[in-house]
Amino acid sequence: MKHLATCGLAFAMLVFGVSAVVAAQRLDDQSSPLYGVKLPEGYRDWKLISVAHEAGKNNDIRAILGNDIAVKAFREGKRPFPEGAVIVRLAWRFESSPRNDSVFPAPQSFVAGVPVNVQVSVKDARRYAASGGWGYGQFENGVANHDPALTRACFTCHAKLDALDKNADLVFTDYSQ
Ligand code: HEC
Repeated sequence: MKHLATCGLAFAMLVFGVSAVVAAQRLDDQSSPLYGVKLPEGYRDWKLISVAHEAGKNNDIRAILGNDIAVKAFREGKRPFPEGAVIVRLAWRFESSPRNDSVFPAPQSFVAGVPVNVQVSVKDARRYAASGGWGYGQFENGVANHDPALTRACFTCHAKLDALDKNADLVFTDYSQ
């Protein structure tokens, strides 16, 4: 009996221990490496800034949304972006739609397929001073991508825009009326 109880305790400790580790990992799953950027709550309801399509290997279609601070800055043409501005870029596979095409005289309908990923840029000049005031993160199925190299590449590439357009504040997208 005593042996059974000890076994039970050891088993419980094992289960709770493991679930604590799993819970900690899940918590960590929510933040990007290097920047600790999280998927912002309610971002799917944010206002539309613009859309984009990348051909080639990515072959996706994208929507760029912003929180109120970002959208206001876009609409007023304010640069640099104010503190707290958050821009979210959603991407889906770019797919031809045979169903939609069937109502047209020739194939012409392309639509959003399965989600690819969500990328997030967060303006916090002090916290992210080393990366031009922006923190970055990429999320797949709501989970942060934990690859530091991928996350580092965000700033490396966005920083290249500075040489082409000093006023862009490392943001490529223009507001579409
Ligand atoms: C090789 C260059 C490159 C890399 C790497 C890159 N981006 Fe971008 N990003 C772009 C370009 C160009 C656009 C605008 C056009 C487009 O979406 O194709 C863009 C658009 C965005 C936008 C919409 C706002 C804006 O700045 O125009 C966000 C948000 C964004 N990227 C975040 C990220 C994050 C987060 C990462 C890293 C996980 C990342 N990007 C990596 C080039 C890059």
